Amino acid sequence: MTEKGFSQGPEDKYVLVTGANSGLGFSICCRLADEFLRSNASSATLSIIFTTRSARKAQDTTRRLEAHLRSSSSSPAETSRVRFLPESVDLGSLLSVRACSRKVTATYPKLDAIILNAGLGGWSGIDWPSAIWGVCTDLLHQVTWPNYKISPIGILADNQTANAPVPQSEPALGSIFCANVFGHYMLAHNVAPLLKRATGFSGPGRIIWVTSIEATLKFFDVDDIQGLKSATPYESSKQLTDLLALTADEPGSAPWAVDSFFASDEDGAGQLVEDDAAYVATSTPTMHLAHPGICATSIVPLALPLIWAMMIAFYGARWLGSPWHTMNTYLAAITPVFLALSSNAQLDDAEAPYRQAGGGRPKWGSGTTRGGAEKIFCTETAGWGYAGVVGTPVVKADELRRRKRGATDLTAEQKEDFLELGRQSWKQMEELRIKWDAILDEAEQAQ
Ligand SMILES: NC(=O)c1ccc[n+]([C@@H]2O[C@H](COP(=O)([O-])OP(=O)(O)OC[C@H]3O[C@@H](n4cnc5c(N)ncnc54)[C@H](OP(=O)(O)O)[C@@H]3O)[C@@H](O)[C@H]2O)c1
Repeated sequence: MTEKGFSQGPEDKYVLVTGANSGLGFSICCRLADEFLRSNASSATLSIIFTTRSARKAQDTTRRLEAHLRSSSSSPAETSRVRFLPESVDLGSLLSVRACSRKVTATYPKLDAIILNAGLGGWSGIDWPSAIWGVCTDLLHQVTWPNYKISPIGILADNQTANAPVPQSEPALGSIFCANVFGHYMLAHNVAPLLKRATGFSGPGRIIWVTSIEATLKFFDVDDIQGLKSATPYESSKQLTDLLALTADEPGSAPWAVDSFFASDEDGAGQLVEDDAAYVATSTPTMHLAHPGICATSIVPLALPLIWAMMIAFYGARWLGSPWHTMNTYLAAITPVFLALSSNAQLDDAEAPYRQAGGGRPKWGSGTTRGGAEKIFCTETAGWGYAGVVGTPVVKADELRRRKRGATDLTAEQKEDFLELGRQSWKQMEELRIKWDAILDEAEQAQ
C-alpha cells in the first residue's frame, strides 16, 4: 500500500484512459470494469484513471461510470474492486499535459496501460452533394472511407506559453496534431517511469494508441507531420499515430523510440523518479495500436435526423459485408480493452502468426459479423499490409474478410518504405518533444 492508500500488488491494475466523458472513451472505462471483474480473481482490484477537460465533466462522468458499475456488478463487494479516479488534461495545452503528468506520477504507484483515446476531428462541415451521391452509389466504401468531410487548413493550437510571465517564442503547433498525437506523445513520455513499474504477467506497461481505419499513407506527408498544409489533418494525425505505434519496436526507430523516448527516468519535468534506474534497461513499455471500427459518437457533430440516417447507412454497410461497422461504442471498445487487460501470453498468441511470418505489430480493430457478433480483427493498412507480413495473408480469416477497394498484397519495397517513414516520424517527434520541453522549462522557470 502506498502512503496515498493505493495498493500495488501484482493483481492490482492501474489503467489510464484519456477523453472519457463521451463516446468511445466512456465505453472503454465501462468495459474495462466489466471485463476485469469477469476475468480476475476476487482479490484483484482495478483503478481506472480517466481524464476529462473540466471539473463538471469529471463529476458527471464519475457519476455515470459508478451507475454503470452498480448495474453490471453482482454485489457491493464486487463493485468495491473497481475505482474510478478523475484527472484533468487538455491535450491542446502542453502545460496542462505537464501538470497532469506530474499529478499522475506523484499519485499512483504504477500504470499497467494508458489508452490514448481522446481525439478531435476538427471538421468544419460536410460536402453534402458529394456525401449523398457517394452513399447512394457506393454505400459500403463511402461510409467506411469517406471523402466528403471538410477541414480547414493550417489551424494552430493556442499559444502555449502566452500566460507565462515571460512568454517564450514558439514554433508552430497544429491544433489537431497537438490534441490527437503530440499531447498524448508528451503524456506517454512523461508517465513512462510509471509504465516501467508495471510488472507481472502483463508487464511492462502498455501504451495503446487509438487510431482510425481511415488512416492511410495518401493522407500523410513526412515533410509536414503536423498536417499543417493538409486538407485532411485528422486523417494525417491518425496515419502518424499508426507509423509511431507500428514501428516503435523496429530496429530503425530504436535510436528515437527505445533509446530516447522511453529511456528517461524523469517525470517529464526534470525530476528523477526514485528507484527507477533499475527498470530502464529491462522494462521498456510496449506500444500497441487499436481502432474502434466505425461507431456513432459526437466526433462528427450531426443533427438527430442525420444521426438516424447515418445509423441506417451503417446497418446497410454491415449487411453488405462491412466488418467494421461496430456502431455501438461498447462493442467498439473491445479492442483497446483487450490490449489493456490481456496477459503478455495472450497478446503474444494473437501476434504469433504474423511474427512467425516475418511481420511485426498488428493494427488491431474492432469489428462485427453480419449478425453483429463482436470480433477483434487485424486491419490491412497501406504500406504495412496485415501486420507487416509481405505477400498473401497468413491468417485465413484475414484473407476472407472484405478488403478496401484497390488493396494489394504488401511488397517488400512497400514495407521498407513504411519502416523508413516510421523512422523519420520517430526522429521528428523526438526532436519536437525535446524542443518543446526546453520551451516549457523556460516558461516554468520564469514563473
Ligand atoms: N467514432 C468513430 O467511429 C471513430 C472511428 C475511428 C477512430 N475514432 C477515435 O476514437 C477516439 C474517441 O473518439 P469518439 O468517436 O469517442 O469521439 P467523441 O465522443 O467526440 O470523444 C472525444 C473525446 O476526446 C476528448 N477531447 C477532444 N479534444 C481534446 C483535447 N484537446 N484534450 C483533451 N481531451 C480532448 C473529448 O473531450 P470534450 O468532450 O471535452 O471535447 C472527448 O472526451 C478518437 O481518437 C477518434 O479519433 C473514432
